[in-house]
Amino acid sequence: MHQFAYKGGVLHAEDVSLDALASEVGTPFYCYSTATLERHYKVFADAFSGADVLVCYSIKANSNIAVLRTLGELGSGMDVVSEGELRRARAAGVPPERIVFSGVGKTREEMAYALNEGIYAFNVESEPELAALNEVAHGLGVKARVALRVNPDIDPKTHRKISTGKAEDKFGVPFDRARALYKEAAGMQGVETCGIHMHIGSQITDLKPFGDAFTLLRALAGQLKEDGIKLEFINFGGGLGVPYRGSNDVPPHPDEYATVVLDAAEELNCKLLFEPGRMIAANAGILVTRVLYVKEGANKTFTVVDAAMNDLIRPTLYEAYHDIWPVRESLRAEPPQKTDVVGPVCETGDYLALDRDLPPFGEADLMAVMTAGAYGAVQSSTYNTRLLIPEVLVKGGHYAVVRPRPDYDELIGGEKIPDWF
Ligand code: LLP
Repeated sequence: MHQFAYKGGVLHAEDVSLDALASEVGTPFYCYSTATLERHYKVFADAFSGADVLVCYSIKANSNIAVLRTLGELGSGMDVVSEGELRRARAAGVPPERIVFSGVGKTREEMAYALNEGIYAFNVESEPELAALNEVAHGLGVKARVALRVNPDIDPKTHRKISTGKAEDKFGVPFDRARALYKEAAGMQGVETCGIHMHIGSQITDLKPFGDAFTLLRALAGQLKEDGIKLEFINFGGGLGVPYRGSNDVPPHPDEYATVVLDAAEELNCKLLFEPGRMIAANAGILVTRVLYVKEGANKTFTVVDAAMNDLIRPTLYEAYHDIWPVRESLRAEPPQKTDVVGPVCETGDYLALDRDLPPFGEADLMAVMTAGAYGAVQSSTYNTRLLIPEVLVKGGHYAVVRPRPDYDELIGGEKIPDWF
């Protein structure tokens, strides 16, 4: 469910016309809907109503501080993976006791920063990381609150680049070493273990891998209890998929996911933590781009638009499919034509859609690349010395440019020619 719909023949974000917005901010740009962000957060949180829950939105999906503020106001915590993300969460006003810190390569400086901020917990991914955190915390005279991230060796049945729970993936402590590591941690002065963490992958559309993984989590929690280790929370990670192809691929509803979680968590008497990212942000955002040229190749048609792989890398990086809608509704009534939607970047991999049956877009037409609110703007780059594109947040009939388009001086002005020239 999202709030991008046609009104009076023009695609709107809530009550804002995307045609008007494109004239005002210029293309390409990302546009996010407040109502959709809020709705997704609430649907997820409500699925666990009655339980002791902390939803830590995974900032990596969309880290604009206006988005973080929107979710923070609803009570959301944050899952961060770098000092930068932690700074963003704090800049958005999210209290430290609602923040968890994940990632396989936290530096000692990042650990110290997070300890000084007083975050809720670290998700620790390895023995050496645990030793480093122990040292840093001990040096600061504090105890780091820790959940060990456990790798259950389960195939989440998603794209291989976004699977994180198999033995060959770099994430987490192997399941059969976790129990011993908890015992070891119990003897460390700078560490207090208080939870277990697991995250098996992203864009997961089948509940079975979750169920299998959570059954293992439950077994480990039982063993730790036997060992006298106190568990305050279980962090089930994120990963719930979203419908990229409209009603043709419907992932499990958060309520169904909640049944699987609550089955596993029964009688453990632990607080439940989650780190959803995509499920909250993906369908709350679109990328709006304008057609530059329609080019007839030797045997196919290329629709050349002003957004490119540097703005949205998902199609080429993960073979991801994003629906494309015309901003002008009347185009939908015309017979579709097969085309590649490509950008100006000098790479064959620069495309937003391949061999797609689309309305007959012509020069200057606007298109909306749907479900681009997660892992879109955050993964953009300035490749080909292209300017990062603006981000716009809509709320009802209002909009705010929440990241302006930089100018060329900001892009290249920081570079220096050495004085040996
Ligand atoms: N927690 C941890 C520890 C994670 O590594 C991730 C995502 C999440 C939570 C959030 O997962 P979500 O609910 O969003 O599935 N760039 C890729 C996705 C990478 C996901 C990385 N980790 C893409 O565009 O598909």
